[in-house]
Amino acid sequence: MNNFRTFDPSNLLCPVPAVMVSCASETARPNIITIAWAGTVCSDPPMVSVSVRKNRHSHAIIRESGEFVVNLVDEKNCKALDFCGMRSGKDVDKWQACGLTPMPALNLDHAPAIAECPAYLACKVRQVLELGSHDMFIGEIVGVQVREDLFEGKDLHLESAGLVAYNHGVYQRTAEVLGFFGYSVARPEVLERRMKQYKK
Ligand SMILES: Cc1cc2nc3c(=O)[nH]c(=O)nc-3n(C[C@H](O)[C@H](O)[C@H](O)COP(=O)(O)O)c2cc1C
Repeated sequence: MNNFRTFDPSNLLCPVPAVMVSCASETARPNIITIAWAGTVCSDPPMVSVSVRKNRHSHAIIRESGEFVVNLVDEKNCKALDFCGMRSGKDVDKWQACGLTPMPALNLDHAPAIAECPAYLACKVRQVLELGSHDMFIGEIVGVQVREDLFEGKDLHLESAGLVAYNHGVYQRTAEVLGFFGYSVARPEVLERRMKQYKK
């Protein structure tokens, strides 16, 4: 006996990023799909995966063009994030419906980035894994842009972007910094200096 309840095997990995993935092809107008099954899968070459059901309108577009853009989502764009996961591009122009603006993504021919998002990763599909319910598109990141105001000099402060996390059906803030990479073993003066920086 213990204090845990047993679940059927399921995807309870939490929290995860929920992102807006933009795509377009020669034959399809630009579209946006909300994706929570996304992940970092390799550093060199830099690669991310997005898992998409075959029946999604975006699936055929990404298949055709071999391109997609992962747009990071902040609090301002949270409603659009949800909307793009509720309606299909078959039926609505989600750009227009959400007041979002397509802009050219670095090193891609078709898929645009979303100008209102704080950062994007432009990806070229390198592999497609047919896993079952979802096909996993593994994309090599061929271009990255981050909004200028998130830098202090050369340092990127993505923690101040107000990015949204997805936690078992709920969107949550990631605003508060609890620590930083290596903080558990940092010297006291380093710990104090770095943490002060995040409390501003
Ligand atoms: C928070 C959230 C996360 C989602 N994650 C995924 C996902 O990882 N893969 C997927 O195929 N669909 C996912 N969906 C559903 C699609 O975004 C949704 O079916 C969308 O309307 C498909 O758009 P499209 O038909 O224009 O491609 C998610 C929806 C929401 C709201």
